[in-house]
Order: sequence, then C-alpha cells, then structure tokens
Amino acid sequence: MSNILVTGGAGYIGSHTVYQLVQRGYNVTVLDDLSTGFRDAVPEPQLHICSLFDTEQVTQLLIRQQIEAVVHFAAFIAVGESTKEPERYFTNNVSGSLSLFSAMAAAGVNKLVFSSTAAVYGNPVSTPIPETAAIAPVNPYGETKATVERALGWLDQCRGLRSVRLRYFNACGANPEAGLSERHVPETHLIPLLLKAVVTGQPMTIFGTDYPTPDGTCIRDYIHVDDLAKAHIAAIDHLLGGGSSEVFNVGTGHGFSVREVLAAVEAVTGKPVPHVFGDRREGDPAELVADSSKLQQRLGWSPEYTSLERIVASAWPSEQRRWA
Ligand code: UFG
Repeated sequence: MSNILVTGGAGYIGSHTVYQLVQRGYNVTVLDDLSTGFRDAVPEPQLHICSLFDTEQVTQLLIRQQIEAVVHFAAFIAVGESTKEPERYFTNNVSGSLSLFSAMAAAGVNKLVFSSTAAVYGNPVSTPIPETAAIAPVNPYGETKATVERALGWLDQCRGLRSVRLRYFNACGANPEAGLSERHVPETHLIPLLLKAVVTGQPMTIFGTDYPTPDGTCIRDYIHVDDLAKAHIAAIDHLLGGGSSEVFNVGTGHGFSVREVLAAVEAVTGKPVPHVFGDRREGDPAELVADSSKLQQRLGWSPEYTSLERIVASAWPSEQRRWA
C-alpha cells in the first residue's frame, strides 16, 4: 500500500483522516509539532514531532519513509485570531507550506492534498457556492489559504507538483469509535459551544439575529469530519491514479441556521441550551453553502452524514466528557 505523509495529523480533521487511512491499509507517517495537535490523537509509532520549517529534516523524513503523497493539514485555523496576528498566520500558513513544498521537491514527491477553506470565498455573491466563484477572502486566515492555493498553481506549472485543494465548509462531529473528537483551544465553533452550554449550564451567545436569512441567524453547511476524511482519501486515490490538479468544495449542499443547529442540539441531548442573543461577530457572512457537485461527479464522493441530529449525536459523548 502507498506511503502517505500527513502534516498536522494530530489535529482535529488530520487525526480523523489518519484513522481512516490506517483502516484502509495505507502506511501513514504523521508530522506534527504538537503546537495545537494532541499526542494521543495519533498512534505513537506513526508520530514524528517536527516543525514544517525544518526543511532538511522534513526532506529526510520524506526520503526515509519513501513517501508517495502528502496530505497537508498543518496550519493555524482561527479566523478571529488571524485578524489580530496576521504576521503569525502568514508566516505559519504560507511560509510553513513553502518549506514543506521545498522539502517535497528535494525528495522528489509530487502529489499533495491541501487543506483549504470556504473562507477563500469571503462574502459570496450567491449560494450554493461553486468552485468557480471569485476568490475574495475577507480575513487573513482565508488569504493565507488562497495564497497557498495560488502558489500550488505555479508549482504545478513549474515543477509538476500535482495537488488537490479541498475547500472545507463547516467541519464538525466526531468519531467516537476511534476515540477521536474536536478539541480546539480556545473553542470557537458553534456545535461544541452549544454542547458546552448544555453541560455547564453557562449560556452561549448567538451572534446576530438580524441577518437576511429566514430566521435572522447565519446559515452554514455543516460537514461531518468523517465525510471530510473520506474526501481526502478520494483525493489521494485520484492523485495516485495519475489524476491532474483539481480544486473541490467539500460540504453537504444543505444549509442550517444557528437556531436550527440549536434545536438539533436540544433534540439530541433532550435538554434546553442556555443561550443569549448578542451582536453579529465581525467577518461572518450571512450564508455559506457548498456546491459540491464537482467532487461528487469527479471523485464519486458523497456525504454519509446529511442529518444534523446524527452529526450532533456523534459529538455529544466526547463533548460531555470534555466540559464535565
Ligand atoms: N456562532 C454563534 N455563537 C458562537 C459561535 C458561533 O452564534 O459562540 C455562529 C457564527 O456566528 C456562525 C456559525 O455559528 O454563524 C458558525 O460559526 P463557527 O465559528 O462554528 O464556524 P465559522 O462558519 O465561523 O467558520 C468555519 C471554519 C473556518 C472557516 C469558515 C469558512 O471554522 O475555519 O467556516 O467561512 F474559515
């Protein structure tokens, strides 16, 4: 089976993808500096604690492990934080990626799956959003991902580095059978914060009720982390099979409002979610829903988790332990 390097494999989406890769028989090597990832999210023998910036060490790892393709997750991911520390975000997400790509060039590895985001679209003019929509990020985080995507276009032309760029919508849920879950510090995402409010009794805040949506709250496309992981495997297989560089949205194509997510959390937990209403959060577009038909048609991918209740139920056991 193929040898795959996963950067950021000790993080949330990375660890779920590593789990599925191992289940399917790939030989997986994880590179993580554990700055935000967790040691226990990855089987010990697979974990190599190393900085992406150590180009020489990464090159040696690629050669030693005879890596055929890289899945690159390692990045800072908090939109709000990126507006306060843009230099740190550009350095880590852009320079770190370039260091990895230099190592791949030195080691002769020319296949990459890149973790991108719906944040590259900024405030889209219409939804569902196809991959052809304008790239117009409205925060430094989205700009770092758009910058790397553009660099990858040139690296394909100039060096023959083939890449699949996956633009995730709202990653959520967990895989309890694998013992994996979401553990961002600090937590900023909606579903974990709703479940936290249920466990602690401390109210969460709904950011904005005056959006131009049917119930006034923001609409997002919530995609289960296992479905995201599956998209990475389809992308690896596409590249290993000789496929060309591509960009794909990864979402379900269905949008849910914040109030609808809250209702789903109440249905799953059987408890009310303590909440208050607050102002809009800066930089939140009203509605982000993916048109993922390209991924479905080209790579035969489809989401298994289309029910919000199922998604919330998958996260509930780990979130109960996390906030207890
Ligand atoms: N929300 C609240 N209260 C909270 C947290 C979130 O009302 O305490 C709302 C937000 O305003 C938003 C929705 O819940 O309308 C979802 O917010 P998240 O923070 O869970 O997710 P985002 O849509 O802000 O961000 C996600 C990814 C980012 C990515 C972005 C693309 O986490 O990495 O989608 O737009 F950049």
